[in-house]
Amino acid sequence: MDNQTLTITDNRTNQTYTVPIYRGTIRAMDLRQIKTSPSDFGLMTYDPAFMNTASCQSSVTFLDGDAGILLYRGYPIEQLAEHCTFLEVAYLLLNGELPDADQLTAWNNEIKRHTMIHENVKKFIDGFHHDAHPMGILMSTVAALSTFYSDARNVCDPNVRRKQVVRLVAKMPTLAAYAYRHRLGLPYIYPDPELCYTKNYMNMLWKRTEPKYVANPVLSRALEVLFILHEQNCSTSAMRAVGSSNADPFASAAAAIAALSGPLHGGANEEVLLMLKEIGAKENIPGFIEQVKNGKRKLMGFGHRVYKNYDPRARIIKRVAEEVFEVTGRNPKLDIALELEKIALSDEYFIKRKLYPNVDFYSGIIYQAMGFTPDQFTVLFGIPRTVGWLAQWQEMMRDSDLKIARPRQIYIGESRREFVPLTLRRQREMVHG
Ligand code: CMC
Repeated sequence: MDNQTLTITDNRTNQTYTVPIYRGTIRAMDLRQIKTSPSDFGLMTYDPAFMNTASCQSSVTFLDGDAGILLYRGYPIEQLAEHCTFLEVAYLLLNGELPDADQLTAWNNEIKRHTMIHENVKKFIDGFHHDAHPMGILMSTVAALSTFYSDARNVCDPNVRRKQVVRLVAKMPTLAAYAYRHRLGLPYIYPDPELCYTKNYMNMLWKRTEPKYVANPVLSRALEVLFILHEQNCSTSAMRAVGSSNADPFASAAAAIAALSGPLHGGANEEVLLMLKEIGAKENIPGFIEQVKNGKRKLMGFGHRVYKNYDPRARIIKRVAEEVFEVTGRNPKLDIALELEKIALSDEYFIKRKLYPNVDFYSGIIYQAMGFTPDQFTVLFGIPRTVGWLAQWQEMMRDSDLKIARPRQIYIGESRREFVPLTLRRQREMVHG
C-alpha cells in the first residue's frame, strides 16, 4: 500500500485535511489543525478508557485478541511457559533477548544478592493491623522503598535505573511473604540464596520449625508458570503514567500495584473465589447466571478488553491446574467453575458479547489448592508483573517521544460565573456525587 494517509472532511466547514497513517494509527495531534475558526482550540479525540487509543509504541508484548495470541519479545507465551524459568523470562522482558547460560547464572545471582530488605521495613509491616489486606501492605512498602534508595530518583541515568530494576524484582517476593506472615503473626523468614526464585518465596511463606523447608517441585514449577503469564494492561498504564512525571520507579510501581488491586483487574481472582464460595453448589449456577444476565452481577474471571476469542493464558492455567491437583487433591470449587464455564459458554448472553474465561478464572482455584488464602491471590500477580511494569518503564524512559502523560478533558461544567458571597448564597441541591 503506497498511500498511507487519511483524508478527513469537516462537514462544519467543508474543509478537507490529509493526515499520515503510521502502523494503523493516526496521531491525535494531527487532528488539532481541524478548526471552525482561528480561535477554535481544534479537534480532539475522546477515549476515556483507551478503547481505541494506542498510548505508546512498545516492543515488549504483542497481543492479538481475536486470534488469542500473546508474544513476549516475539516468543509465544506457551513456549516460554513450557521451557523457561520465571527469571529467564524476566531477563527476556527486561533486555529484549533470552539469556545464554552465563548471562542467566549472573542474572540469577544478582537477583539473589538483592532479596533482603532493610530491617526498618519490617517495622512498617509490624505497624499494619493484623487483618490488613496484603495488597495494601505491598503497595505501601514498595512506595516506602523509595525512601531507602534515594539514588532511585535519578531516573535519567540508565545505570541507576537498572539498579532499581534489580532491587524491585528481587525484593517483591520478600515483601509479599512478610505481608503474609504478618497477618498470621509468624516470624519473618530471611531469603535463602540457595533456592530459586519461586522456592525461596515458598520458603519465606511457609517455613515453620523444620530445619530446611523443601518445596514440592510440582508446586514450585506451577508457581513459576503462573508467574510467567501477564501482559500490557491497566496497571502497566499506571506505571507508565506515573513514571512519565520522572517519579522514581518505587513510586511508579506502587501506583501500578494500586491499579492491580482493583476487582476488575488483578483483584478479580480473589473475587472469583468469593463468587464460587457464594454459589456453593452446581444447582445454584442457573440462578446466578440469571442475575448476571439481568445486569445485577458480573461473572468474575470472564471477559477481557482485548481477548475476544479466548485468553491463551487461561488454557495454560487449566493444564497447570491438573498438575497441581495431582499433588494437592482436587479443589471442590473446580467442579463449580467448570460447570459455570460450560453453561456460560453455551449461553447467548456470553456468546454475543464474546465473554470467555480470562487468566483469573482458574488461577485462584489453583492458588487455593496450593495453600494460599484468597487475599494473597492478587499479590501473586503483583510479584511477576513487576517485571513487565519495569520493562515498560525502561522502554518508556528511553523513548524519544516521552513527555509527561497529561490527558485532556471535555469540560462539561458551568460556564464562567461571578462569585457569590456566603450571606447571599441560597441552599441549592447538590449535583456533585
Ligand atoms: N460478566 C457479565 N457481563 C460482562 C462481563 C462479565 N464478567 N464482562 C463484560 N460484560 C458485558 C458488559 O456488561 C457489556 O455488556 P453490554 O454490552 O450489554 O453493556 C459487555 O459485556 C462488554 O463489556 P465491557 O464492560 O464494555 O468490556 P470492557 O472491555 O470494558 O471490560 C473487563 C473488560 C475485563 C473489565 C470486564 O470483562 C469485566 O469486568 N470482567 C470481570 C472482571 C475480571 O475478570 N477482570 C479480569 C480481567 S483479565 C486479568 C487482568 O486484567 O488482570
